[in-house]
Amino acid sequence: MAHIELNLSDVRSFLSAEPESLQKRVNEIHKTIHEKTGLGNDFLGWVDLPKTYDKEEYKRVLDAAKRIRKQSQVLVVIGIGGSYLGAKAGLEFLNVPFKKNKLEIVFAGHHMSGSYLAKLVEYLKNKRFSINVISKSGTTTEPAIAFRVLKKELEERYGKEEAKNRIYSTTDQKRGALYTVSKENGYEMFVIPDDVGGRFSVLTPVGLLPLEASGINTKQILKGALDAYKRFSKPNLANNEAYLYAATRNLLYKSGKKIEMLVGYEPNLLFLNEWWKQLFGESEGKDHKGLFVASAGFSTDLHSLGQYIQEGERHLFETVIQVSNTGDDVMVPEEENDLDELNYLKGKPLSFVNAQALKGTMMAHHDGEVPNILLTIPTFDAYTFGYLVYFFEKACAMSAYMIDVNPFNQPGVEAYKKNMFALLGKKGYENILK
Ligand code: PA5
Repeated sequence: MAHIELNLSDVRSFLSAEPESLQKRVNEIHKTIHEKTGLGNDFLGWVDLPKTYDKEEYKRVLDAAKRIRKQSQVLVVIGIGGSYLGAKAGLEFLNVPFKKNKLEIVFAGHHMSGSYLAKLVEYLKNKRFSINVISKSGTTTEPAIAFRVLKKELEERYGKEEAKNRIYSTTDQKRGALYTVSKENGYEMFVIPDDVGGRFSVLTPVGLLPLEASGINTKQILKGALDAYKRFSKPNLANNEAYLYAATRNLLYKSGKKIEMLVGYEPNLLFLNEWWKQLFGESEGKDHKGLFVASAGFSTDLHSLGQYIQEGERHLFETVIQVSNTGDDVMVPEEENDLDELNYLKGKPLSFVNAQALKGTMMAHHDGEVPNILLTIPTFDAYTFGYLVYFFEKACAMSAYMIDVNPFNQPGVEAYKKNMFALLGKKGYENILK
């Protein structure tokens, strides 16, 4: 049975062909993915990861998480892009609003704000903390700077020896600056496998260590991913929602819809949006091709972006995530004088009101020529998060191959770095800005 339901009834009238008509192409690409013969084929390790992940290392993840919870009040997770967004998306997806966890997770190295880092250093002054520094290349500027600053804090606080016991590094198996520093200092190290790229690394220690440390049941995440792996291991579009989603967005793209918005009606989905944008944006946007991926949180953004979506340029479609059971709820109370005129909703759960907002918005956007793909997930739990991660990863690879781009590189990201290094006077970049 599908854990995620994909409903295309709103979209079909916008398509020039049925997504199922792409079955032959899907079969070919599926073979390419599983036999690892396509573009970027040395980065397809994530495909089998839910089955083949390193079980011994996972045990170390569980032990390290326990140790971190014992030794610290705060875990600072340092990383950017694929070394940041998966864990952040998982934490938010599974977050219980206003509940304070025993271990607080904070992020650093995901931008270059000096003001943020200064305030973080200040915040950590009276708290016991540990660091999980994550970088596959080990040379990314943002996390490298943050690590240098926070390591200094840790060493000043605890002394070099004890600081070593509080630093956990997640990096390449045998190379890179972070690898060398970690080896040299004897930090506990976790591996990002060679054949798993940053944005496909949530189900490695990159995502699993911070999530487990925060108290999330990562065994359930892996179980969800494994079930998704099994479900999407055959290409038949009748039973493979990941490929059906990819085929549908491909047809929409070819029909002139150049922007896909991922839309949710629950705040827990906001960082899943951010992770998804990186996954699809960095994987597909190359060779002057690819959907531009954007996102919105409704109904909040119906009061901002809503106007554009309804009546702006018609180059958009939406993928809406609906959550069947959101857990706790409130009923709209009755008031005797009904001055705010809400008594027509008395006794109705807010989840019901939210569901009608979703339905009404989909109808309005359909009338405004914005097609809606509807994805329904059962609830916010660890199993569903793992399943959803794998669903999108598989869909992303299929989508990128459908437009003949290499899903696993990101050559365009280097352009800004070269200029920045030249402006900063880094050795070797002297002639870049001429
Ligand atoms: O998906 C990717 O490969 C990138 O977004 C990287 O995750 C990001 O640039 C961070 O790289 P690193 O982990 O090497 O510091």
